[in-house]
Amino acid sequence: MKITFFGHASVQVQINGAYLVFDPFITPNEKAAHIDVDAIKADYVLLSHGHADHVADVERIAKNNSATIVSSFEAATWFGNKGYPNHPMNHGGKKQFVFGTVKFVHATHSSVLPDGTYGGNPGGFVVWGAGQCFYFAGDTGLMMDMKLIPLTCPKLDVAILPIGDNFTMGYEDAALAAEFIGCNTVIGIHYDTFDMIKIDHDAAKKAFEQRGKKLILPALGQTIEL
Ligand code: NI
Ligand code: MN
Repeated sequence: MKITFFGHASVQVQINGAYLVFDPFITPNEKAAHIDVDAIKADYVLLSHGHADHVADVERIAKNNSATIVSSFEAATWFGNKGYPNHPMNHGGKKQFVFGTVKFVHATHSSVLPDGTYGGNPGGFVVWGAGQCFYFAGDTGLMMDMKLIPLTCPKLDVAILPIGDNFTMGYEDAALAAEFIGCNTVIGIHYDTFDMIKIDHDAAKKAFEQRGKKLILPALGQTIEL
């Protein structure tokens, strides 16, 4: 499994021969000016919810790659009405794709699409295939429902969690989330993009260390192999 960080909550995961792109917000992000959005490969674009800082480059990447958009029923249908191939899901449901299994899990947040259309409830994804498993939490606060993940999914190799506070959980709660989901390695996202979500990197890493967990804060454009 290879995970590439494109800034904010945007990541690409290569798993079992497939390219999955999550929540692409690249062209509006000044910090990601060195990323060529048109060079990003995607077989699937997975969207956690409809907020602009997650949706921005969904259509461009989907169009470039003829990718299928996977999201809540409401958000997937919104893209479907624009002519994009899509796969709608709802909470607690899982689906077998060619590369592996995707489970759409709870997130506690809100969701509206850029034109004001209701986006359905926001979610996260647990994905497993070829003996590996990861969790992309989307925008969420800490919640007890995270404890269901280790009870219902394979053991997580890595979790991609928001840590920037204000709009999502902060790093202290994310470190506790790592305990709830039984995962020792976390990649932090959704921080530092805007002033409101600027964090102290050393304090964030320490919060995870205190719980025996490892927090990785990849450089923008960096690929991590697990
Ligand atoms: Ni959001
Ligand atoms: Mn967000």
